[in-house]
Amino acid sequence: MDIVWISHPDNYRPATLQGIGAGAQERLDLFAEHGHTLRVVQSHLIVPGWAGGPRLWVGDEDLLDERRGFMVTGWTWDAAAATHISAISRAIRASSSVLLTDGILDPERLGSDKLAMYHFAGERGVPVLPTVSVPYGRHAGAALEQVTRHLDADGYVVKPREMARGFGVLKVDTIEQLSATVDLLTPGALGCVIQPYFANSGDLRVYVHRGEVIAGLLRKPAAGSYLANVSQGGSGSAMSVPSEIREHSERLARDLESPYLCIDWLLSDAGPVFNEWMTVSAAFENLPEPEKTRVSDALFATIADRLAAGE
Ligand SMILES: Nc1ncnc2c1ncn2[C@@H]1O[C@H](COP(=O)(O)OP(=O)(O)OP(=O)(O)O)[C@@H](O)[C@H]1O
Ligand SMILES: [Mg+2]
Repeated sequence: MDIVWISHPDNYRPATLQGIGAGAQERLDLFAEHGHTLRVVQSHLIVPGWAGGPRLWVGDEDLLDERRGFMVTGWTWDAAAATHISAISRAIRASSSVLLTDGILDPERLGSDKLAMYHFAGERGVPVLPTVSVPYGRHAGAALEQVTRHLDADGYVVKPREMARGFGVLKVDTIEQLSATVDLLTPGALGCVIQPYFANSGDLRVYVHRGEVIAGLLRKPAAGSYLANVSQGGSGSAMSVPSEIREHSERLARDLESPYLCIDWLLSDAGPVFNEWMTVSAAFENLPEPEKTRVSDALFATIADRLAAGE
């Protein structure tokens, strides 16, 4: 095995997990076609540590006993699991192995936190929605005061700061519903943000490789729905990338020092807004040809470059 994919099955119900496993098979096959031997290890089986060097023990084995590539599914709704997974990621970063799911400047900060992404993108003149992060516990309600001050909107989206696959992305229409939603967040540990609902014609994923946009995947919600995620019933098709989005995307990839970056934009007649970015774990399987092969070639070239660097 030269690559280990550390997954976190506890995120899902068993039936959902089966579907995800089937969907991941295409990606696993691609790794094999590109000459990689890949092993999937569930995060709860791993014990991170130090014993003369960083260690990732699985029983009597150490996954860091030779130099490998790692992909880590870092997002979870479970705060205790998130702490465990960050110990795994930090052990890999401390070792001679490569954490392939990093691949950007300052991944601990900018890897998956949407608020941190908005700070970074907004500072660079990229259009970003006003966003309010919900404080914790009995202080959560303080978010509502800032929403009425800073988010001039007919409706709102409440979503986790660090999740994926459309998990917990909720559209609410009134301040009364928003207030009840914040009440429901009060006892939990899932950090969330509130944004205006941005009426959009789809979520465009732009793939940037070696500084240049190489493909665009437009995901549209199903009729009557608001989530564009293909895993939530949205549909995907190739789209040529408008020049404004191309320029912003290439600038972000450059400033993030990322050789391979997928950047999502919500589209509207009034212009796009930035939504989020992701590195090598972002889906591309829904692209038609020839874009799909172009993106997978770029992905595996990036993985090869990163494994070769520092060897
Ligand atoms: N502020 C918003 N206004 C309108 N729609 C939104 C907004 N934020 C998110 N959405 C919709 O919800 C979808 C999922 O939201 P988002 O991409 O932020 O979350 P995610 O769970 O990280 O998804 P992904 O799997 O793409 O990483 C988006 O693709 C978009 O269709
Ligand atoms: Mg998304």
